[in-house]
Amino acid sequence: MKVLGIESSCDETGVAVFESRRGCLAQALHTQADLHAVYGGVVPELASRDHIRLLPILVRQTLREAGLEVTDLDAIAYTAGPGLAGALLVGASVAEAMALAAGIPALPVHHLEGHLLSPLLSDDPPAFPFVALLVSGGHTQLMRVVDVGDYELLGETLDDAAGEAFDKTAKILGLGYPGGPQLAALAACGEAGRFRLPRPMLHSGDLNFSFSGLKTAVLNVASSPDWRPEYQTDLAAGFQQAVVEVLTAKAMAALERTGMRSLVVAGGVGANRALRARLDADAVRLGARVHYPAPELCTDNGVMIAFAGAQRLIRGERVSVDPVIRVRPRWPLAELRPPGFGVA
Ligand code: KG4
Ligand code: ZN
Repeated sequence: MKVLGIESSCDETGVAVFESRRGCLAQALHTQADLHAVYGGVVPELASRDHIRLLPILVRQTLREAGLEVTDLDAIAYTAGPGLAGALLVGASVAEAMALAAGIPALPVHHLEGHLLSPLLSDDPPAFPFVALLVSGGHTQLMRVVDVGDYELLGETLDDAAGEAFDKTAKILGLGYPGGPQLAALAACGEAGRFRLPRPMLHSGDLNFSFSGLKTAVLNVASSPDWRPEYQTDLAAGFQQAVVEVLTAKAMAALERTGMRSLVVAGGVGANRALRARLDADAVRLGARVHYPAPELCTDNGVMIAFAGAQRLIRGERVSVDPVIRVRPRWPLAELRPPGFGVA
């Protein structure tokens, strides 16, 4: 079974072909980071226009590399949400139009499902059920994953997502966009103990998170009269340690509560080395194991969307071949079915 995957929910244009027996046959990825860097964040209208510019080129390139025609495909999967409405519509329109022309189904895929299933593409994949920690620029969630399509929300952020907190804190510290990786690089050279920063909701007794107060605490330190530019690395390290501590504590609590012994970490912040080290160390103490996607699959890409679409087809999910452009900018992962897919 061969599925073309299209990702265009935010600032990455990703295309891939996944084959159920041989894995990823070809993929292409373009990041718009440079386009948005001057504005210090993603500009939705520019994102949509860039997806329009590149998607047809990347689709042709990926199919050529895979040695396939559109008519050789079994389905076309695309990110239908959550994400930026205009950006999602570009991927949805291209996927639905191609699928209609080829007479094959188009599969609307949940972006976070793509992320959380991506560790299954590794050589040593986790077995169901498992707990998933989704940490991206737009989401911070703990999910109980029973099987493909069977997800229960255990806890989530009440305000900023972890990646958003990294990006906003990086901005406060004068780093460029996207700030997460730059802040992490700086933090690796810093002394985390210099500043006392809060651990929001560490003892809240539930599995929810909050990161906006932490970002404000960083802002207060950086704008105090005693602030000196050479403290930047230590403040970055202090911030990272606070986020890592809270994410790890809640992830371990989720494992304990569910009795599961497998944790899957997905989303851009999952690439953070300090987070990985801490999760690995604490999981060992619980007799649990942590699974990560390959580094190139941590951030947005087309492979995870093609893979998620293929998993749903393999499980016999019925798909409509109506040429309806379906996107859902706000789409809770726990609402995959029922009530099923609908336009928000
Ligand atoms: O999953 P992703 O590529 O896109 C979304 O769906 O949001 O995640 C991007 C987020 C950004 O906020 C970025 O700053 C953050 O992941 N990120 C990191 C690291 N690499 C990416 N945050 C902390 N440490 C990193 N190494
Ligand atoms: Zn993502």
